[in-house]
Amino acid sequence: MTCESDKICRAEYALRAFRKEVRMLKLYDLTIEYKTEPIGLDEMQPRFSWKLKSDRNDTWQSAYRITVSTGEVIWDTGRVENSQSVLIEYMGEVLEARTVYTWNVTVWDNHGESAFASAVFETGLLTGTAFEGNARWITHGFLKDDTVSPVFIRRFTAPAVPVRARLYATALGLYEAEVNGVKVDDTYFAPGWTSYHKRLQYQTYSVENLREGENELRFTLGKGWYAGALGFTPTPNHYGDTTALLSMLILTYADGTEQVIGTDDDCTVSTGPIRFSELYDGETQDWTLPETLIGKATVFEHGLESLTAQENEPVRCLVRLPVSREFTAPNGDHLFDFAQNLTGWTEVKITGRPGQKLVLRHAESLDENGNFYTGNLSFAKATDTYILNGEEQILRPHFTFHGFRYVCLNGLEEGQQIELTACHLASDLKAAGSFTCSDERVNRLQQNIVWGQRDNYLDVPTDCPQRSERLGWTGDATAYTPTAVFHQNIMPFMRKWLRDLAADQNPETGMAQVVPDVLSDGATGGQNGSAYWGDAATVVPWTLYETYGDKRVLAEQYDSMKIWTEYVRRQCGENGLWQTGFQYGDWLGLDAEMNGLGDERKGATDDYFVANACYLRTLQIMADSAAVLGLKEDEILYRELREKVLAAFRREYVTLTGRLVSETQTAMTLALYFDLVEEQFKEDIAARLEQNIAAHKTHLTTGFIGTPYLCLALSDNGKHAVAGKLLLQEENPGWLYEVKMGATTVWERWNSILPDGSFNPANMNSLNHYAYGAIGSWLYTRLSGLRRLEPGYRKFAVAPGFIKGITRAELSYESVYGTIETAWKCENGKITVDLTVPVGTTALLTLPEKDETLEIGSGSYHYEYETTTRLEQDRYTMETLLRVMLQHPAAQPIIRQYMPDMLDNPMIQYVMEEPISSLLAYAAEAKPLYEMILKVMNESGI
Ligand code: BGC
Repeated sequence: MTCESDKICRAEYALRAFRKEVRMLKLYDLTIEYKTEPIGLDEMQPRFSWKLKSDRNDTWQSAYRITVSTGEVIWDTGRVENSQSVLIEYMGEVLEARTVYTWNVTVWDNHGESAFASAVFETGLLTGTAFEGNARWITHGFLKDDTVSPVFIRRFTAPAVPVRARLYATALGLYEAEVNGVKVDDTYFAPGWTSYHKRLQYQTYSVENLREGENELRFTLGKGWYAGALGFTPTPNHYGDTTALLSMLILTYADGTEQVIGTDDDCTVSTGPIRFSELYDGETQDWTLPETLIGKATVFEHGLESLTAQENEPVRCLVRLPVSREFTAPNGDHLFDFAQNLTGWTEVKITGRPGQKLVLRHAESLDENGNFYTGNLSFAKATDTYILNGEEQILRPHFTFHGFRYVCLNGLEEGQQIELTACHLASDLKAAGSFTCSDERVNRLQQNIVWGQRDNYLDVPTDCPQRSERLGWTGDATAYTPTAVFHQNIMPFMRKWLRDLAADQNPETGMAQVVPDVLSDGATGGQNGSAYWGDAATVVPWTLYETYGDKRVLAEQYDSMKIWTEYVRRQCGENGLWQTGFQYGDWLGLDAEMNGLGDERKGATDDYFVANACYLRTLQIMADSAAVLGLKEDEILYRELREKVLAAFRREYVTLTGRLVSETQTAMTLALYFDLVEEQFKEDIAARLEQNIAAHKTHLTTGFIGTPYLCLALSDNGKHAVAGKLLLQEENPGWLYEVKMGATTVWERWNSILPDGSFNPANMNSLNHYAYGAIGSWLYTRLSGLRRLEPGYRKFAVAPGFIKGITRAELSYESVYGTIETAWKCENGKITVDLTVPVGTTALLTLPEKDETLEIGSGSYHYEYETTTRLEQDRYTMETLLRVMLQHPAAQPIIRQYMPDMLDNPMIQYVMEEPISSLLAYAAEAKPLYEMILKVMNESGI
């Protein structure tokens, strides 16, 4: 192949990289603390980031200059000869509250080009005490068991239309604010869920619809997470039994004067249409009742110290779905199917009869008979009720959400029109990554993973959105966060959650099971401090650091990470190991003993094998984090401690010949992936893991702990093909089993729905749990092959990992430096690889079937070359039944020659209907022979 003038030869096998010769440097995506032009920012030393695009290859920033001004320049870095473009800390004068700052950035690149861009940010109150003298906490005086949502109203006169109006508000409970009859913005579930006793967010809104003269501010409150019922067996008032409101509207007029309208006893309290509202149970609205004035609001004593500006991105309606199918179920129920399991609520458009009652119940699924199934909602009623006023109405709930795909409607009259829309609600995080490949089933799985993430990222990372639970389960976050970082920029979301995690930590128990912690006051408080669940304290900050290159998150969390680590250390016995106390173990692993004696939810792997494996990983993270933060003493301490614990672990759980005590799939996975065994044993362990999988007819048995790492461990230890087979396994258990069964999200259990369509009878059975979605991480890092080499992807590797059955894969990921794109294809005798490397980053590209690794700078590259590899699925595989092989004419002569006794063995009849792979459990050494026979069978064309 020859090089043409517009193409670059990158290597001797004539790979071609195309580029356009347009000289241009572009600055884009200016953010401050990960947010685009935020208002209400309370970071005193916020950090600036930007991205660069260039049409020239091998571009990096050589210098930058930032200025910050409020009209006059208050900070000017001057020209800084530095390639840093991410998280540059503000070092200027102290920022002032409620001030708009403009920041300008100029950059220069290594080719002599430069670019300029500008953005603004506005500070918030900077401290909760800013409310002092301006506004007071107010409440309604309703009876404690009154379920009506109070409406606080404040009317005021504005002398003119203000040039700027900002509303600062928060509540004990949930609130929605309206100005002159219009909702103040498009966000929901303010003030969000935090560890309320210690941290309460306030929100800042830009108010646009004020008028000269009379205006009205109106706040409706719900109990929400503050006073509503929460937990497995829901109990109310986890934080308090009285909902309350605090807000101030600050109006700035053209002449610079300000008017402050704060909550106080000048506000009135009315009842509105919301008669009942609970997160789990739903909402009841009665639109026939007139709004009734109850009286003046009363001042409520509550502090201001815990107030903090909104940290997370707010919850919005991200997707609106029309009804996909309206039908009558076999039992007569009137059902609507939105064709997607989601978190949110149903919006109703109807013109009713005055007093007509509509009841909407929500569920994730139909049962095996096609009827509405609510058996997995536990105590949640998930029911919204509307009593209509006779006009055309568009209705939706306010302080509840449901996990649902189906709605069961009652109360519609003969011939009456109704329009239902499913509104998907979640924290509105910036999208980051996408993945598609040649297999539509895997693409559906990928969509299910993404839906599951958004469905469980409603202000806190929850286990599930539908049953009476919906809690910030820490173990689920440990399992899933490394996958989550690929889909969305989760930093604002997780940073908030980690602050709550730290706030709720108790050195005595190490870590809560759920954050915010609403279980420690209940019956399950004694289960705090379980391995893996507690490891969220270390794994999540470390994952964020690696993904975004953000040291501040590590510094902020370091004490919390240490509290957890030191807690575990104190649990260890004289042998240096953690072998006491409650453990969740390999939660929901399928190798549990099913004899009715144990907890069927716990996999077979020894609990303390798991606990110590997790402890070792946490020690590794601690040592690495201390190194990043320059904490030399801690680094040495944790490295040495890890060595000691590792030695103790090997004494206890690894035999002299490298066999593991409790040698399950999960144990072998952890041993390999967490690097717990000596190098020399890894090959054998990987081989035994393969055998174990084969003995289960190419199925996994892993639970919460093993599943996220199983395929990663296989791929990294020479068994990538086995990982590929697990991925593509369609029979229960496996990721594609769910897809085959019509799942639109990821299930809690491998067998949440049984092959006959009936539900697993266990009461803990959600169809929307993200833990097993952790396979996403394998899709992106081992199949597409994108891996971080330096924090923030400043340097990354791309090494496509072909598997049989998938002929192409495309991935796009928005790193903090810009978009990384990589795509590979192996079709029709040709391999192609495309790669886009952002400005300022370097990629190490290992092309399939080439030994050399290319180091490449920014730009877009295309490679193509010939191959004899066929990735299309073969007709005959190790999953083919033995009977089929034995009867195949091309196989018979080989069997006769190499395994002459096989056909005469009387035992053969017992395994005839088994896949060939399962025979490996009896004679692993026969594998090459089976593979050779299969090759001949496939080549025979018969
Ligand atoms: C949750 C899980 C959680 C577990 C603790 C369940 O009820 O749904 O996802 O991690 O409890 O074992």
